[in-house]
Amino acid sequence: MTLTQLKQRSLLGLKELSQEEIESILDRAAYWENHETKVHHTLQGKFAANMFFENSTRTRFSFEVAEKRLGAEVLNFSAAVSSVQKGESVYDTVRTLESMGIDVGIIRLKPIGVLAELATKIKVPLINAGDGNNEHPTQALLDMYTMRKHFGQLKGLTVSIVGDVLHSRVARSNLWALQKFGVKVNFCSPPNMQASELDVSYVSMDEALKSDVVMMLRVQLERHESGMLSSAESYREHYGLTVERASKLAKHAIIMHPAPINRNVEIDDELVEHPQSRIFPQMENGVPIRMAVVERALS
Ligand code: NCD
Repeated sequence: MTLTQLKQRSLLGLKELSQEEIESILDRAAYWENHETKVHHTLQGKFAANMFFENSTRTRFSFEVAEKRLGAEVLNFSAAVSSVQKGESVYDTVRTLESMGIDVGIIRLKPIGVLAELATKIKVPLINAGDGNNEHPTQALLDMYTMRKHFGQLKGLTVSIVGDVLHSRVARSNLWALQKFGVKVNFCSPPNMQASELDVSYVSMDEALKSDVVMMLRVQLERHESGMLSSAESYREHYGLTVERASKLAKHAIIMHPAPINRNVEIDDELVEHPQSRIFPQMENGVPIRMAVVERALS
């Protein structure tokens, strides 16, 4: 296989992916979602390795369910119980699994840039499961899928992404992908959590509440420098989706959040499973999206 073909099968981010390619992934996910049989033989005899160098619950299990539903053999690697603890590098770890014959690697990493470099050295297709605060393509795909399912189409929607944009790969992947579809994307965040390098308008919380989609982000304390968050109460007061604020949403609007959730900080407890919330459906949609992405990598 040529390097170009390999690159086409990898999924490192949505910034470089065309609208047509994104659409074909969403369509294929719809095919899998509507397929009643749970386990297929599509990827029988193929080995998928989930390599998580950073913690994960939803993304890791969702990939594993997707791979198993496609009939693949699944290997799970978690940095906490591997030789990474002995100082083995990311490259050596991935190269080790490659030499054992895996057919696709799903990778989550803390530092930005390592994945792009790995992709030039590793021969099997790689799928980004979140790299630093850069991109999280499968999360944005499942978010777009959830929006498309609710509204019928993406074009013309207004999506406000609220919260800790600075540390969010979810915000970046959504921004870059949604703009390709003619979606108006706004950000709303405290001044010290804004990402100045991104070409996007920042709006007030009142303005954000007028959107078709209000996507709340987790306050990502593990990525903060000390003192970024004065208190959870004051964050909720200024940037939280409270029950009172949610009552101002249009009837057709939906609430989203990639999770994990800090309940009663960025979103009130009562709103997580509110009729307008799509938080658990987002997780549900993650499986067919990842089936489409893994299948694409191995087809
Ligand atoms: C997100 C992530 O890891 O970037 N979560 C996820 O994959 N569902 C968002 C977050 O951690 O806040």
